[in-house]
Amino acid sequence: MTYAARPTWAEIDLDALIHNLEQAKFFCSEHQRILAVVKADAYGHGAVPVARKLHSSGVRDFAVATLEEALELRSAGISARLLVLGGCFPGQEQAFIAHDLMPTLLDGESAQRLNAEAVCQQKKLKVHIKVDSGMGRVGFLPDQLKAFLPQFRALEGLEAEGFMSHLACADELSCGVTADQQRRFYAMLEMVRSYGIIPREIHLNNSAGLSAWQCPECTLARPGIMLYGGLPGPDLADRLQLKPVMHLRSCIAQLRRLPSGSGISYGHSFHAPQDMTVAVLPLGYADGYNRLLSNRGMGILRGHKIPLVGRVCMDWIMFDVSQVPNAAVGDPVTLLGTADGHAILGDEWAEQLGTISYEVFCRIGSRVPRRYLPKEP
Ligand SMILES: Cc1ncc(COP(=O)(O)O)c(C=O)c1O
Repeated sequence: MTYAARPTWAEIDLDALIHNLEQAKFFCSEHQRILAVVKADAYGHGAVPVARKLHSSGVRDFAVATLEEALELRSAGISARLLVLGGCFPGQEQAFIAHDLMPTLLDGESAQRLNAEAVCQQKKLKVHIKVDSGMGRVGFLPDQLKAFLPQFRALEGLEAEGFMSHLACADELSCGVTADQQRRFYAMLEMVRSYGIIPREIHLNNSAGLSAWQCPECTLARPGIMLYGGLPGPDLADRLQLKPVMHLRSCIAQLRRLPSGSGISYGHSFHAPQDMTVAVLPLGYADGYNRLLSNRGMGILRGHKIPLVGRVCMDWIMFDVSQVPNAAVGDPVTLLGTADGHAILGDEWAEQLGTISYEVFCRIGSRVPRRYLPKEP
């Protein structure tokens, strides 16, 4: 049986994605390539269509966070080089080898497990050795690396394809941490090479690093958020001309004429100051429209910016459309993204919510279908 969907969707503008890819490439030196970060379902944009589009535009290297995310891409027929940033948990070794996935090597214990499986299968598994140059999260610290390298040389089933680290403060241009991290990164790279281990790929920069910090030794850059049109940080606004990729839209389900003094939504946190026309849209916090946008969110309707009134519900939100002539049931309202020359950016939501655009995009729920534009011929 076919039926019409609830009129709430997220448009994913694949042309904007490619525009942002070109921006990322602009910051790459001649010998650097893009390793596109498509983890967390491409930050909520849909990992398979995003990876397909990037692949068809020449990107050959991708990163995801988990084995499951990698397998989703493989099941969709994406045969590109895939790096799993989250490493290999016990019991996942066989799958890495069977599906030609590269684990990020975060410790000696996982190296032993992966090596044992690779040797057993008479395969050589490519890994990227990750060092903690100052992020304070995962990867080998200098002393750990020193102890690990002689062991690594003896692991016949593993090949050091890559050497990598992650930046903690690259979005803060006046912060000294990045320069310190770069120094440690290069020192640890030298240590690796001094053991005769010569990784082909070297990478450090995320979106912020790529747009602000040179990495002459690097062969890859790992942008994520900038591909999706989010700013890696406010300091970088002047350097990047990004286009939003996700546009969250929903159509007016009901129009209600409410008399002055009417309370709207749970808790009556809003009372109509005069007679009002209120549009009700079929989406809510269960779709990733954050409840903290209650009485603060904005929409775009027929070229007008309209304010959200009352609390965001699980499945509904309400807007004051009194100032919009001819507003009608079925009209599309843009909640995130652009329409009619207006924009409501993920970075604006993020500021209102005290978070980052990464989280805004990731939280647009699975209940919201993604529609990809332009449509494939
Ligand atoms: C290891 C690693 N590299 C690259 C990225 C991409 O970062 P960004 O989205 O800031 O470009 C991330 C994202 O969190 C990451 O964890």
